[in-house]
Amino acid sequence: MGKNASLLQVRGITKIFSKGTVDEVTALDDVSLDVNAEDYITIIGSNGAGKTTLLNVIAGIFPPEEGEVLINGDDITKLPEHRRARYFGRVHQDPKIGTGAKLTIEENLAFALLRGQRRGLKAAINEQRRELFRSTLAPLGLGLESRLDAFVGTLSSGQRQSIALTMATISNPTLLLLDEHVANLDPRTAQIVFDLTEMIVQREKLTTMMITHNMECALKYGNRLIMMHRGKIIVDIGQEDKQKLAINDLINAFEQAAGEKLVDEAILLSRCEL
Ligand SMILES: Nc1ncnc2c1ncn2[C@@H]1O[C@H](COP(=O)(O)OP(=O)(O)OP(=O)(O)O)[C@@H](O)[C@H]1O
Ligand SMILES: [Mg+2]
Repeated sequence: MGKNASLLQVRGITKIFSKGTVDEVTALDDVSLDVNAEDYITIIGSNGAGKTTLLNVIAGIFPPEEGEVLINGDDITKLPEHRRARYFGRVHQDPKIGTGAKLTIEENLAFALLRGQRRGLKAAINEQRRELFRSTLAPLGLGLESRLDAFVGTLSSGQRQSIALTMATISNPTLLLLDEHVANLDPRTAQIVFDLTEMIVQREKLTTMMITHNMECALKYGNRLIMMHRGKIIVDIGQEDKQKLAINDLINAFEQAAGEKLVDEAILLSRCEL
């Protein structure tokens, strides 16, 4: 680990899709970002701003055209996804991604402990592991600890997303990446999953990047807020300022930095509280 290195360094990342064609799009345009240990960053921005692409480049889903990604000072830019998976826990918007419908709850959790190796899944489940799974699931308050044999495909989307969150955090990842992970849930269930996220992140002191489509949630959670627009980070607000801001201030900050009006209704109108 480099001396004083941030936990994650994103340096000058440019990501271009369909390069050289009429569909060419610069999804990330020279993006740099330092994430410190125990940062809990909420990320907000209009559709197509590059939020998901940023998480994808960090997780190694595809390489950037330019720039570097460093974890604890180590350059991982060229590491394929599976070789850097141990650093990351990730939850997607769709509860079906990240959980196996035809595996039971305990098999899914064992799969996460084995870091994605299906081999040895059965052997990985013993009474000691079951106890770990029960004690991990019980605080969620959903009763899943007594349903370890249930197939995940039979769970509600909120329960399933709670399993996805548990899988993403059970191996204590260096960085937790959440991509609008409550967006497909009804408001009440979304709130439950947000609360669970809060509980797990605080308890495990996880460094977290969470994309949300909701300004109120972006202000409510975390210690730092980033706004993205057209492939760039245009606003980066720390804890102290974040606490003082209201949604209108955030809209003003966006419009000043972007030089244009914020027109994304999903961001403007959705509420966080229930
Ligand atoms: N795999 C891909 N192939 C081609 N183009 C892509 C791909 N992934 C993203 N893009 C394009 O890159 C741009 C940024 O997309 P991205 O998904 O990162 O935006 P986002 O900020 O996550 O938006 P949303 O709020 O809609 O999820 C968009 O123009 C998108 O169409
Ligand atoms: Mg996205």
